[in-house]
Amino acid sequence: MDSIWRMLRANRAASADRRIMALFDDPMRFADFSTSADGMLLDYSKTSMDKDARKLLLQLAREAGVEARRDAMFAGEKINISENRAVLHTALRNQSGAVLVEGRDVMPEVRSTLARMGDFATALRQGEIKAADGGPITEVISIGIGGSDLGPAMGVKALGAYHDGPKIRFVSNIDGAHFTEASKRADPARTLVIVASKTFTTIETMTNAETAKKWLGAGAESQMVAISSALDKTADFGIPADRVFGFADWVGGRYSVWGPIGLPLMLAVGPERFAEFLAGGHAMDQHFRHAPLSENMPVLLALTGIWHRNICDYPTRAVLPYDQRLSRLPAYLQQLDMESNGKRVALDGAPVSQPTGPVVWGQAGTNGQHAFYQLLHQGSNVVPCEFMIAAEGHEPALKHQHDLLKANCLAQSEALMRGKQSRAPYRACPGNRPSTTLAYPKLTPFTLGQIIALYEHRVFVEGVIWGINSFDQWGVELGKEMATALLPLLQGGDSSGKDGSTIGLLKALDAG
Ligand code: F6P
Repeated sequence: MDSIWRMLRANRAASADRRIMALFDDPMRFADFSTSADGMLLDYSKTSMDKDARKLLLQLAREAGVEARRDAMFAGEKINISENRAVLHTALRNQSGAVLVEGRDVMPEVRSTLARMGDFATALRQGEIKAADGGPITEVISIGIGGSDLGPAMGVKALGAYHDGPKIRFVSNIDGAHFTEASKRADPARTLVIVASKTFTTIETMTNAETAKKWLGAGAESQMVAISSALDKTADFGIPADRVFGFADWVGGRYSVWGPIGLPLMLAVGPERFAEFLAGGHAMDQHFRHAPLSENMPVLLALTGIWHRNICDYPTRAVLPYDQRLSRLPAYLQQLDMESNGKRVALDGAPVSQPTGPVVWGQAGTNGQHAFYQLLHQGSNVVPCEFMIAAEGHEPALKHQHDLLKANCLAQSEALMRGKQSRAPYRACPGNRPSTTLAYPKLTPFTLGQIIALYEHRVFVEGVIWGINSFDQWGVELGKEMATALLPLLQGGDSSGKDGSTIGLLKALDAG
């Protein structure tokens, strides 16, 4: 692979003076550098990647063994080697055939859990699940953090146009303000509390769960649901087995919205819409598994990422959905991408030979245009941008506003590429700044499933090329351990062993 990296860098050096605009002298540039999957289109033509570079990138993917690793993942092999686990979030949305883990088909259990979720969601949405006082449940507070929060919270907002179930509020931060703000307009007599935690040990979630239990009072017994892999711990917490939805340890937290962690989304939009969401994810799985690499949307998005991160040396990328209902998507993708690929050692434990996961950030358009686009257009750093836009909105009466949204999205990617000359230097925009655009028909449960699965597989392919394990997250442990050790120091314990800054800050924060 080293020779391919060298050839890629040589390609970049040889084309350093060529502007992206010049690539459109070829009338086929857009046709050649876009690809489609089930109604979704990825346009990666406004990048500096030329045909020779793409050929080398595809060769890089093949030599890295992307296809074999992909097939190993879908086959249930334990590719998460540091935790000795399979990686099978795809099984949660699988629509055909068996999925074997250690020789056992897991689909019957996946399907029975999905059916249980559906029964529970339907009963609650139809008012058949009663609160402790015999009245209805009219709202939900979902407690979780990281993958146990970001997916459902993003999904409920994304599918707001389909939300016909109870109001859903999300609590994640250990800061008491979060539960306070979420609960102050909720009636404990009318509220179901979901405690979502794969491990059922995460301090933020378990602390908020205890607070919620007290807040529910008499309702605690019948108005709490647990979602976890640790069924012993949910029982210890006192949640009855028929209110526990379990999932296997081969579902990673940041990949878990497709299963029981997605219960808040199913409560919001109903089992049928949730099934459409799963179908969209499965459709992208099928595309990823069977489309030739040269037409494969997750592969091409990943190779664009490799080109920008490793060859153009851009350390960050911006995700800019021109869709207000996708305003939580950048936060979701931060965990998906940065907790998966923010790694510095390879699968064999050696330091990585290439820079790995970029800093992922972003905000819904058009708002970002009034926040950080100045830097995107005139800053000293080049940031590859990933735009997303629907052909059709959900507000037919405001079609003119959706036309404006589309015009802004397309204008930004064109402006970044073209730039603007000016005799006044402070007015000039250098242009030649790359972007991709993902265009989809409408933000439906199906297209949301496609988008999430697309990015999951893009992260996977980048991780394979970098030779890292995208499915563990040992880096988050140190902070958690140190927080636990610091707590007694905040309560008057001996801080003498600490550094001067920590000691000074402990004193400054001594609220007495
Ligand atoms: O951020 C670390 C992490 O383990 C994530 O991977 C996970 O999504 C989150 O904490 C919450 O974990 P749990 O679902 O076990 O509470």
